[in-house]
Amino acid sequence: MADTITITDNRTGKQYDLPIEHETIRGIDLRKIKVKDDDFGLMVYDPAFMNTASVKSKITFIDGDKGILRYRGYPIEQLAEKCTSFLEVAYLVLKGELPNRPQLDRFRSNIKHHTFVHENIKKLMEAFRYDAHPMGMFISTIAALSTFYPEAKNIFDEADRQKHIHRLIAKVPTIAAFAYRHSKGLPYIYPDNDLTYAGNFLTMMFRMSSEQFKVNPVLEHALTVLFILHADHEQNCSANTMRSIGSSYVDPYSATAGAAAALWGPLHGGANEAVIHMLDEIGSIDKVPGFIKDVKEGKGSRLMGFGHRVYKNYDPRAKVIKKLAYEVFEVTGKNPKLDIALELERIALEDEYFVKRKLYPNVDFYSGLIYQAMGFPLDFFPVLFAIPRTAGWLTQWEEHILDQEQKIARPRQIFLGSGERDWLPIEKRK
Ligand code: ACO
Repeated sequence: MADTITITDNRTGKQYDLPIEHETIRGIDLRKIKVKDDDFGLMVYDPAFMNTASVKSKITFIDGDKGILRYRGYPIEQLAEKCTSFLEVAYLVLKGELPNRPQLDRFRSNIKHHTFVHENIKKLMEAFRYDAHPMGMFISTIAALSTFYPEAKNIFDEADRQKHIHRLIAKVPTIAAFAYRHSKGLPYIYPDNDLTYAGNFLTMMFRMSSEQFKVNPVLEHALTVLFILHADHEQNCSANTMRSIGSSYVDPYSATAGAAAALWGPLHGGANEAVIHMLDEIGSIDKVPGFIKDVKEGKGSRLMGFGHRVYKNYDPRAKVIKKLAYEVFEVTGKNPKLDIALELERIALEDEYFVKRKLYPNVDFYSGLIYQAMGFPLDFFPVLFAIPRTAGWLTQWEEHILDQEQKIARPRQIFLGSGERDWLPIEKRK
């Protein structure tokens, strides 16, 4: 059988054979389908890209029906269990292979070389209001980095590009920690390059004057796992934003700032914060059934941390995080909201409304509980997501700009507005 599809246009009776490759037809092939020669040709209307593949990618694989997530072929469960550092996974995502020892050492040293920020970046951050949202500070500061590295616009210079990728991965924890210290009115702590990626970040966040400060190894490990789980997630809203902005060939700092802005929304990386607010609003286990009833009847909010555009099964990251939560609570004490979350999950997984719509816990359902128990404020949660995802965004960006099939991202529209009409003087307008 041929790998083609035959489409009959019932308006004209004409038939068109279109090639099928990777279970996909090319949108542009539909443009041949016309009634008159001077017609524009058929387009696809696909709001929110529900059924449109916009890229060919070799980075991350998701099978949403089976609940599978792999980076470069490696199951997320194995990476979360076996990798001892975030940079090992960042290397894998970026380069396509797990690093051997010398490769990892070199990568680590490249990253460590760039962890400090220019003192003017510090001054820039000091200018924010005391109550500025840390994600707003984070996004603006990442964007400001482009002014410090004007050569970053040379995106097709391989050596330059790698330097900017290393620099961004290195600096995001520093900028994130400075944003937190700023909001607390605490002095900024400079990076300690003898520590791991997660350990250094926790130290910049929480070290007070004591020279003895030592990160708890269980919490350091938990944050490493959380960073690994969040490193990439194929063509989600922020990755698509990164690619779309990057397709104009702007520098990677500006594109990363845009991707981080996309992540901030409550339907994307802001959901873990929304989960905590929801658990607070529910307040106690006995209120769970009433809350679920309200969700189903469309009164109030959705069940935050549930549902996913791609996963129609349990998000594999949520499974790892749920287990991790118990390890963290051994150290921090149990987050009292855990029982409400468990009851919500139990009821929702049995409820016909959620079962029918294949709504399962996503990565955000339990991650907020861990972050909160570790002492991170709620408004800092999206920043915690953005730190590891920077590696994923940069990988998606690099794949995109080097892909010969890609062009500047530019969808079409179906225009439904007014036809041509004549300008009216203001006195004659209704
Ligand atoms: N609670 C209740 N009902 C829901 C939920 C939810 N969390 N999610 C989806 N539904 C319902 C919708 O109302 C809709 O029902 P209907 O068919 O009767 O109208 C149906 O399920 C399909 O929902 P859509 O909105 O069409 O699904 P979509 O793929 O567009 O949305 C999304 C995915 C945005 C994640 C959605 O499930 C949601 O809003 N979840 C809550 C927010 C959240 O947890 N976001 C984090 C996602 S993970 C991440 O970004 C890291």
